[in-house]
Amino acid sequence: MPRDVTVTVDGRRISAPEGSTLASAMLGAEVTHFRTSVTGAPRAPVCGMGVCFECRVTVDGRPHQRSCLIPCTDGMRVETSPNEIGAWAPPPDAVHESRSCDVAVVGGGPAGIAAAVAASAAGARVIVIDQGMRPGGQIWRHRDPAALPKAARNWLARLGEKGGGAPPEWLARSTVFDARVGEDIVLRLTGEGARGCGAVRARRVVLATGARELLLPFDGWTLPGVLALGGAQALLKGGMVVRGKRAVVAGSGPLLLPVAAALSRAGARVMFVAEQAPIAQAAAFAAGLWSHPAKLWQAAAYGASLRGATVRFGTWVRSAEGDQGRVARVRLTNGRRAWTVPCDLLCASYGFVPAVELARLMGCDVERGRVAVDALQRTTVPNVWCAGEPTGVAGEAAALVEGRIAGLDAAGDEARARSARLQRARDGWRRFGERLTDAFRPRDEVRRLASDSTVVCRCEDVRRESLDPSWSVRQAKLYTRITMGPCQGMVCGAACTSLFGWSPGTVRPPVGGTEVARLG
Ligand code: FES
Repeated sequence: MPRDVTVTVDGRRISAPEGSTLASAMLGAEVTHFRTSVTGAPRAPVCGMGVCFECRVTVDGRPHQRSCLIPCTDGMRVETSPNEIGAWAPPPDAVHESRSCDVAVVGGGPAGIAAAVAASAAGARVIVIDQGMRPGGQIWRHRDPAALPKAARNWLARLGEKGGGAPPEWLARSTVFDARVGEDIVLRLTGEGARGCGAVRARRVVLATGARELLLPFDGWTLPGVLALGGAQALLKGGMVVRGKRAVVAGSGPLLLPVAAALSRAGARVMFVAEQAPIAQAAAFAAGLWSHPAKLWQAAAYGASLRGATVRFGTWVRSAEGDQGRVARVRLTNGRRAWTVPCDLLCASYGFVPAVELARLMGCDVERGRVAVDALQRTTVPNVWCAGEPTGVAGEAAALVEGRIAGLDAAGDEARARSARLQRARDGWRRFGERLTDAFRPRDEVRRLASDSTVVCRCEDVRRESLDPSWSVRQAKLYTRITMGPCQGMVCGAACTSLFGWSPGTVRPPVGGTEVARLG
């Protein structure tokens, strides 16, 4: 049992199990107003994984810290942040050191772990750079490793083993914000981790940057208490308390049922589960899973654990309304009629967007929003590989096999990377990913829910009515600052593509946003 630590939030003492994330502990203690938007609206965590920047608070005097990425420590002092610039002091852990390796792996989810284990076993010196506090990415990151599936525990254990060389070195709480591709590849890092600012020089790089959730704007989506599906899952894993809260789970894709089941297990009352895909489409996808019976059993087990929640297909969120600065009701519709469901938590997102920004910065070709790779996961840039969701969202099994192929080939073991077994598995999971994407693609009504007054860019509070669909994304940036806030368009960029068909703008460092003080 982890011991409890005490954190002071705006002068109020709250306690949380050691290892909880600050965002989870604060939400569990009924803190609902984390920061104030540029136009004065209350905001609170959404993505739970450091993408949206909505959970920023001042921690021990340092402003604009993402509370979803910070572990609670005893005596920590937190102020929920008004929208102020704050004092930009260099972080105390800023160390301008640089390291070198044969293979750098960017991202510590299943693809990154598999790549690191495979490359290390083939004798390469490997460094893994990951934003999280502990290995596993969104899917395998948990305060209590015993709660993970056996396969995940095995992979995490293998990460610490000596392969052909030393075990992979793990740089936690570190983000690559810039990359220079030359004879060697230099990755510049930022992050709250103990090693602070620095750089990794690698002969070869495997990008395993994962995906982020697709959040589509609707009236009320900025209210505290409205979370992304994976955000809710991450915050629950981080220790968020939801006992007795009424939750509505909505959106699209295979994350709906596990999130609803996790909320239910944690003591929330799941009022409604709304999948936007028509039932016929979802059923056709499920019927195609005959070759993956474990997935069908898993879905059935999640459904059975929901204890009476209403589950509907062809149903989506129309809008959300709040009381006292937080979500209180959600308006659902099936296109023919609309109705209201009371809730304290609304979890809504629509699948995933491959995180391709770093690959684009490094010059890799991106086609249909995915990094283009060959059978060995090689990108179009020499010495750069890509594995997992950036090459197309297909789930954990696809990420593992692609990570292995990339890691082996990056370490010089092309023969094993080309093995028929790995190539067959990769192709099979890729086909699964295509079917998944097609079955749960958001319908037009969901993609265009924003009304004139809906905030589209959460960071800069840019409303739909300020945007002219005839603009390019560059014009929109110049006229309104959309995509130029702290998240650097990680949230509103995909919303703009959905609403207006705008293609993403040029990627420049810093990728994903960081503190100016950390750029060095
Ligand atoms: S939502 Fe962050 S820049 Fe627009």
